[in-house]
Amino acid sequence: MARRRQLYEGKAKILFEGPEPGTLVQYFKDDATAFNAQKKGTITGKGVLNNRISEYLMTRLAEIGVPTHFIRRLNMREQLIREVEIIPLEVVVRNVAAGSLSSRLGIPEGQRLPRSIIEYYYKNDQLGDPMVAEEHITCFGWASTQDLDDMVALTLRVNDFLTGLFLGVGITLVDFKLEFGRLWENEEMRIVLADEISPDNCRLWDAKTGEKMDKDRFRRDLGKVEEGYQEVARRLGILPEAGVRDMKGPEAMQ
Ligand code: TMP
Repeated sequence: MARRRQLYEGKAKILFEGPEPGTLVQYFKDDATAFNAQKKGTITGKGVLNNRISEYLMTRLAEIGVPTHFIRRLNMREQLIREVEIIPLEVVVRNVAAGSLSSRLGIPEGQRLPRSIIEYYYKNDQLGDPMVAEEHITCFGWASTQDLDDMVALTLRVNDFLTGLFLGVGITLVDFKLEFGRLWENEEMRIVLADEISPDNCRLWDAKTGEKMDKDRFRRDLGKVEEGYQEVARRLGILPEAGVRDMKGPEAMQ
């Protein structure tokens, strides 16, 4: 098979040139990192599961009118996406205190927040993705006020929708991270949801027991990491029947 040009390799994904102009192929790896890549590991089958989970969630979101970069899943580890200009921000939404919010402000993990909080982090590995305010974002031109308005409006819709979707399968959506991109179509620019939505960038707790089913199992060495990701897919009704051992799928053509 023809080799494709690799455009970018990140910590959990690789981007290849797509079959048509304006498209890319997003390949999901099993590699996992935490704490700005100070901790490294592999979660067997993660790439397959995240590809499927992200496809499912992006498709559901598109159905309610949230624009996304997702076009279609190609195979076990790859999806076709629209090429967008990534806005260098991580938009984090929190419904329940956890992680860096708890450690920074001393709010006990698990405390429900009186209202959802949106935070911004500047995507820059060298700086360790520092938290920034709107003032920094507009001052340094990472996004305009209009871009931010669009991102916040989309983020709140995503949060409402995903909170309900996960609650329906007995999962509390504690917090999550979104990324956005600019999509250019005939001189017009639209902000669309990009990257992925998966247990790598969400905190997902069993609604009854509080059991963690996300990357915190890896970050905090809680064990049963693969099982957490599988359980999320199983509850969403999208766990491939063959089971995770058979889900290696085609390897990336590099
Ligand atoms: P935090 O509590 O560590 O700030 O994380 C908040 C949410 O953002 C959590 O769901 C995990 C996600 N996240 C990422 O997707 N990428 C990151 O680099 C970090 C630090 C967090």
